[in-house]
This record gives sequence, C-alpha cells and structure tokens, in this order.
Amino acid sequence: MRVLDRLMMSAALAVASAGAASAAEVEVLHWWTSGGEAAALNVLKQDLEGQGITWRDMPVAGGGGEAAMTALRARVTAGDAPTAVQVLGFDLLDWTEQGDVLANLDEVATAGNWNAVIPAALQRFSKPGDHWVAAPVNVHSTNWVWANKAVLDELGISQPTNWDEFIAALQKAKDAGKVALAHGGQPWQEATIFDSAVLASGGPEFYQKSMIDLDPEALGSEQMVAAFDKMEQLRGFVDDNFSGRDWNLASAMVINGEAAFQIMGDWAKGEFLNAGKVPGTDFLCFRVPGTEGTVTFNSDQFMMFRQDDPEATKAQMAMAAAIESPEFQVAFNTVKGSVPARTDVPDTEFDDCGKKGMADLKAASEAGTLLGSMGHGHANPAAVKNAMYDVITAHFNGEYDSQQAAEELVNAVEGAQ
Ligand code: GAL
Repeated sequence: MRVLDRLMMSAALAVASAGAASAAEVEVLHWWTSGGEAAALNVLKQDLEGQGITWRDMPVAGGGGEAAMTALRARVTAGDAPTAVQVLGFDLLDWTEQGDVLANLDEVATAGNWNAVIPAALQRFSKPGDHWVAAPVNVHSTNWVWANKAVLDELGISQPTNWDEFIAALQKAKDAGKVALAHGGQPWQEATIFDSAVLASGGPEFYQKSMIDLDPEALGSEQMVAAFDKMEQLRGFVDDNFSGRDWNLASAMVINGEAAFQIMGDWAKGEFLNAGKVPGTDFLCFRVPGTEGTVTFNSDQFMMFRQDDPEATKAQMAMAAAIESPEFQVAFNTVKGSVPARTDVPDTEFDDCGKKGMADLKAASEAGTLLGSMGHGHANPAAVKNAMYDVITAHFNGEYDSQQAAEELVNAVEGAQ
C-alpha cells in the first residue's frame, strides 16, 4: 500500500468500521467470477441462506484479486466497508496495521477449535496478533500443471517427470499444431508461473531466500537468471493471442483440446469440474516438473470488518462459523479445486487431484517445504510483490533479457521496501 493510500485510509477508518450490512445480511466482496469459482461461492451462499442470512454480492472481476483490493480501498475510504472480504496473506497483515477496524472472531474460533486445527502457516495471517480477524476458507497451491489427456494420448506424450521432459512435451505439442501452453498475459498469471520457475531453478531453499527473505544476493544470482531463462523457454510455447487473456479462458483452451497444458493454481480444477470433466480420464493434474516435494501455497481468507449493528455482527459470526465447519470445508473445496483449511477433514470425498493436493500439503508441511506463493500474496508484502510482477512481466514480454531481469529484480525489491 502506498503512503498516500495509507494516509487516506487512516482518515477514513474512523467511520469505516460501521459497515454497510444490515440485520441478518452479509455483504461479501470477492473476485470469484469464473464458472468454477462462482459454483464454489454458491456453496457458501446457499449455506448462509439456509440459515436465514441474506447474501449481498459484491464481485470484482480479475483473477488474483488486485482489482478487488483496489475496490476495497475505495469502499473503506468512503466509509462503507463490506462485511466480509476475500483477501490473501500479506494484504491481511496490511489491513491489520490499519488500526482497530477488523472484527474479533475469537468466540467463534474457540467454539470451532480453530487454534488446534488451522495450520500455523494460515494462522499467521488470520490471527496476526492475539485475535482472529479472518476465516480461512481453503488452501490453494500454484505449482500445478493441468493437461488435456486426450491431446496427450493422441500425440503420444507421457506425463513429464522433469523440466527437460516438460519442455520436450511442450515442443511435441507445438510441432503438432496445438497451443502447447495455454496462458493469459496478465502480470499475476506470469507471477504464478514464476513461483514454479524459481523452484525448478533453485529448489525450496533458494525460493525461501529470494522470494520470502528477499536476500539481494539470491535475487540477483545465477539461479535467478536461470529462473528467468525458464520463463523465456515457456514464453516460446504460448500462442500469439495470449496477451490480456483471462486465466479461465486459458483453462478453457485445455478443456476443449485447443491447448495441451496450463500452469496454474488448483482453482483451474474448478473450471474442469464445472465443465463436467473428470480427473485422470479427461485431464491430468501434476506438479510442475522440477518442483515436486514443494508446495507454493495461498489461502483465501474472509477478513471481517467490525459492524456496529449487533444483528449484522451476528450474521457475520454465523458466516465465520459456517466457513470453518468440516462439512462446509468438504462441500466447498471439492468444487473450488482447493483443499481444506483445517487439518482434521478426511480426504474421502475428494477426487484424485484433491487427494494429491492434501497429501502434498501435509508432506510439505512436515518437510519444511510448504512455502508462501509470491504470485498470490503469501511470500512478501504487496508493494514488493507488485514490484516483482512488473519485472517478471517486462521480461516475459521481451523488455529485458534474463541477466537484466535478475538485476532489475534486485533494484525493484530494494525500491519497494
Ligand atoms: C487466487 C485465489 C483463488 C482464485 C484465483 C483466480 O488468488 O486464491 O481462489 O480465485 O486467484 O481468481
């Protein structure tokens, strides 16, 4: 958040916390507007409506949520904060620093045993001080590949197991006249891929040092140059119309067989499921080759703004409680493509990709290789993330070579801190 934004925000915060919601109603600001996302959101809507709580929808289109965060700032500045807001990692920490505007969810958290069942990696954001201020709805991760199985079978491509095999598979698809890599040229989508490029180039320790610790030496290292080289390789496999394309339209290209692969977080699975596709039969999900054993995660949380009307607070608390109920966690996450935010939910109802997602998360958490996604606001503050986005996208569009990009990354991160 820029300094000016911060000042304007503080001025407005005095009135912001009153909130706009009236009795037994929640107003929810979110960016879940694609088919799969909307289907998942419906699960939450219906759950609340079943409890007599009215849902006022405030959708702000734009994957990754940058546009939603801008809309949120405008709402708060106008003294009209929504009840609940979809938010990612470090944005939550930014809001916590804005003073006493967020609701206190401790009572609901105690009743639902959140302290024991929500992993520390998420609590760091949902309970940044002594109090719970947000309810994590899921855990997504970004280092996934989604592939059209019929296309792979037709072209005799087997699932690649390392980076070179992946590149060879992409080449084979390209040679056969397919779009090898479905991609949308938007900074957050390039950053999503970059999570994996960094991991595949230097492994989890390098990712930690560069993306999370922001160590200038790591940011400007040969391994970072190699990460940008990998981005350049991938750039060779996207189609001519990639610029500005929404991520779900890129997913649709894999779903309808126009493209072979997409690198995207597991919200892409929501699109495949929404189109009636079955994992293992119609599509494959596997970790980006060269990143196995590590999970770059992000968690969607509903951050709650304090309400003055006790009835509105009641509705808000009911929403928080509903989100963390184990039954809801299954119902929602099996549709969304994510995995539960609670560790005590069985994987029985999940499909094979979901089961793998849950097992990978547990294993990475135990091995110390569960790392926050840079692309999705879980590695570093928004100002740094945005500075990284700029360099990554400029490089992807040919403005810098890999060596220059690594140097620019060091400068950009320094400037943003
Ligand atoms: C992510 C979010 C996901 C999904 C995706 C694309 O940041 O965590 O839930 O919505 O953006 O919009």
